[in-house]
Amino acid sequence: MSGRIPRDFIDELLVRVDIVDLIDSHVPLKKTGNNFVARCPFHVEKSPSFSVSRKKQFFHCFGCGASGNAISFLMDFGHLDFVEAIEDLAGFVGMGVPRESIEYQSGQKKEDLNGLYRLMEQVATFYVERLRTGDAGKKAVEYLKARGVSGNCANDFMIGYAPDEWQALSARFDPKLLLETGLLASNDAGQTYDRFRGRIMFPIRDKRARIVGFGGRVLDDSVPKYLNSPETPLFHKGKEVYGLYELLEKNAKPQRILIVEGYMDVIALAQFGIHYAVAALGTAASQAHLDLLFRFTSELVFCFDGDRAGREAAWRAMESAFSSLKDGRQIRIMLLPPQHDPDSLVREEGVDGFVGRIQSSETLSEYFFGHFSSELNLSEMEGRAQLVIKAKPYLEKLPESVFKEMMFARLKELSGLGRLDVLDNAATLVPNQGVGIGRKRPQDNGRLSSARMAIALLVQNPRLAELVEQWEIDWSELVFPGAALFKNVLQMIIDKNPVNVAVLVECYRDSADEKSIKALALLETLIPDNGVEAEFCDAVNRLLIQAREINLARLLDKEKGGGLDAQEKQLLLKMLTAK
Ligand code: CTP
Ligand code: MN
Repeated sequence: MSGRIPRDFIDELLVRVDIVDLIDSHVPLKKTGNNFVARCPFHVEKSPSFSVSRKKQFFHCFGCGASGNAISFLMDFGHLDFVEAIEDLAGFVGMGVPRESIEYQSGQKKEDLNGLYRLMEQVATFYVERLRTGDAGKKAVEYLKARGVSGNCANDFMIGYAPDEWQALSARFDPKLLLETGLLASNDAGQTYDRFRGRIMFPIRDKRARIVGFGGRVLDDSVPKYLNSPETPLFHKGKEVYGLYELLEKNAKPQRILIVEGYMDVIALAQFGIHYAVAALGTAASQAHLDLLFRFTSELVFCFDGDRAGREAAWRAMESAFSSLKDGRQIRIMLLPPQHDPDSLVREEGVDGFVGRIQSSETLSEYFFGHFSSELNLSEMEGRAQLVIKAKPYLEKLPESVFKEMMFARLKELSGLGRLDVLDNAATLVPNQGVGIGRKRPQDNGRLSSARMAIALLVQNPRLAELVEQWEIDWSELVFPGAALFKNVLQMIIDKNPVNVAVLVECYRDSADEKSIKALALLETLIPDNGVEAEFCDAVNRLLIQAREINLARLLDKEKGGGLDAQEKQLLLKMLTAK
């Protein structure tokens, strides 16, 4: 794989591109006032609530809440990952993407990778031919037929057969490329030979239809039953799932995606018309897998065997799923009857039976609390206390969301500890404390708090940081609601010197503050351009006064208890006399 994309380049891209032109090329925009609007591409609506600001270089939908800069738009609109979005954006403004360093061997260039992809395609085609020719091919076809795989289905999945020979590939293709793609293996003596021999071959394609690896199954009981491509410049097991390309071919926006364990499970389900299953490649589904799949659907259903190993795998999957669960994402857990996998079950119960099981599978929250309830006695206080102790650490890992609040509410209900502070998940149960969230609080009467105004103006006009630097204020001492975020933004601007709000927001991608920063970027301050500086100075002044008062009150309070040290006494004296 190629190296990292330099940060500077990403900043420059965001400066060069005009988000209005970019979005307009995908979703025609209409100008109204200062903004450009359209019907939102991310949800179904009759009247336009999707708005793009040229000044902020930001889009925002008032209907569904989608928002972000040009990179976020391409990621969401095109189902791209971050790097793909950068590549597309660079293409849009006519720039090439530079790379900082090369992770793989010496100078793996894009052209080399293209050569590897071409080879994979040729080898897959060779395997398909071999399935159609000769006695060995016939045996393989018979095996597939015996397992109920139709010719059509084999075609869709490009299933092939690797002949039982040691040098079938190297006689036909470039051995250097074969080695790089893991199709040749080598022994201690340095001799190379075909890795896959006498196996049914399943090409693993990425979502852009490129073959990145293979899985191969023996036709009998010999071991290993399955063999997979090793990690190569093209293939990263933790990132790819089997069947995604084939799934997207049938439906680019499936209502749900089923995650099963095996190649044959995906194929058997597709054979029965359930075209929305993928398999993690012999590993537990990673967070990268989940994030990838959530780009195409809002509901994932994990499918596990009902035996002990399956139940344990389900619990592990749930643990890794927790941190990907943003609002609007759903996960279900489906445990199959013992001795079954999806392949055997769909054949036994038919589509209706199988789909019925999907629909009645447990939601993640049912599964989560059910798991504890089955091992603890919740009718006793000890059991309920244990529940809190065991469940709380998991819930704390959930991203801030309505779902998180509901999970905490359910825990309170089940434990009967509703009023106890131990359960307070301060960040979510006391919403809008401080300036975390950009929405106006009702008691604001439409007026923003000083802190929120100051931070919003700073986020939207990063150049204001220069003013603050000139004031030489010792921010470390100042305490006011939102102080941490204010200092954080200020430091970020000083460090990264973003030229506009879209670049600044980019610095927060995937960080804990991303949501707050985005909200502040979108906040309507209603300050005209020429009044920004004055309003900012005012807001900061009010903050300084506020911080002073908080500090003073704290010191006075402590003094009553006689607990001031010498330094604090001096500070208090200074503050009192200065007034
Ligand atoms: N697997 C693997 N290597 C193995 C065994 C299994 O990579 N030696 C992976 C494969 O992706 C396989 C999945 O784990 O599809 C599930 O394995 P298993 O349940 O043993 O096989 P099935 O999918 O049921 O395969 P089959 O029905 O063909 O026996
Ligand atoms: Mn099976």
